[in-house]
Amino acid sequence: MPITEALSESLVAHPLYTWSLLGIVVMGIVSFFVLSFISAPYGRHLREGWGPTMNATVLWVLMEAPSPISFVVVYFMSDNAFKPVPLILLGMYMGHYIYRSFIYPFRMRGGDKREPILTGGLAIAFNTANGSTNAFAITVLAPHLLSAAWLADPRFIIGVLVFATGYAINHQSDAILRNLRKPGESGYKIPYGGFYRWVSSPNYFGELVEWTGFALAAWTAPALVFVFFTASNLIPRAFSNHRWYLEHFSDYPKERRAVIPFLL
Ligand SMILES: NC(=O)c1ccc[n+]([C@@H]2O[C@H](COP(=O)([O-])OP(=O)(O)OC[C@H]3O[C@@H](n4cnc5c(N)ncnc54)[C@H](OP(=O)(O)O)[C@@H]3O)[C@@H](O)[C@H]2O)c1
Repeated sequence: MPITEALSESLVAHPLYTWSLLGIVVMGIVSFFVLSFISAPYGRHLREGWGPTMNATVLWVLMEAPSPISFVVVYFMSDNAFKPVPLILLGMYMGHYIYRSFIYPFRMRGGDKREPILTGGLAIAFNTANGSTNAFAITVLAPHLLSAAWLADPRFIIGVLVFATGYAINHQSDAILRNLRKPGESGYKIPYGGFYRWVSSPNYFGELVEWTGFALAAWTAPALVFVFFTASNLIPRAFSNHRWYLEHFSDYPKERRAVIPFLL
């Protein structure tokens, strides 16, 4: 079926789901172009002029939590919630987001930072749409996920392995960054070890690998759109970080790429 026909059918059958998905695609395209010229004003790129700010830890929880919450709410509205494949995909999504929303923000070091509420507001909109569309597709729109036969499909097996690899890279990289600062420190140092051997933002690389694995394992439109959105956000951000390192450290390893080893 041509994509335009599938889209108009989906708009009639599931308007909220379809508009949310289209909204994420548009946000992804806009983010890519905007972030290619303007670095998002948080972390090392924080600066004045982006409106009111609030405590960075609280903002992080508020902006990430809508993802697991909306996913769980929509997921358990379905009669298919206790089928084995959807349960595994639920576990993958939650394994990432419980940590990212409720544990990671309290482990970050760098003192009492503030961030613009604007960046949090955009993240809340994306996370709510992303969590709910992914859960809806997994439990309602993907008949292939309701049969246990999908457990033996190469897309599912490879997808789970790719996801686990990305998860490990993302966590290892975040841990290296965290350990650069002693409690109470807030400055920046050159990270070494793990995938920092090859790229400046391996935490973003791990995140991209994770959601690529999830998209392969789920084989749904929202999971694919999630990878697209993640790439459209994190690739320009990784280039901003890479430029920032080169500008701030004269001894920064010249062979490092920005985000994808040996490539980008
Ligand atoms: N799926 C998505 O679209 C998406 C979007 C954004 C983020 N994320 C994920 O969320 C996580 C955090 O993202 P982020 O953009 O905040 O990452 P980041 O800029 O690499 O910062 C992560 C943490 O490490 C600290 N840090 C970074 N570089 C440092 C250095 N050279 N020396 C000392 N400390 C350093 C930062 O402190 P400061 O805060 O003081 O800079 C922050 O606490 C990543 O795993 C990322 O993949 C995902």
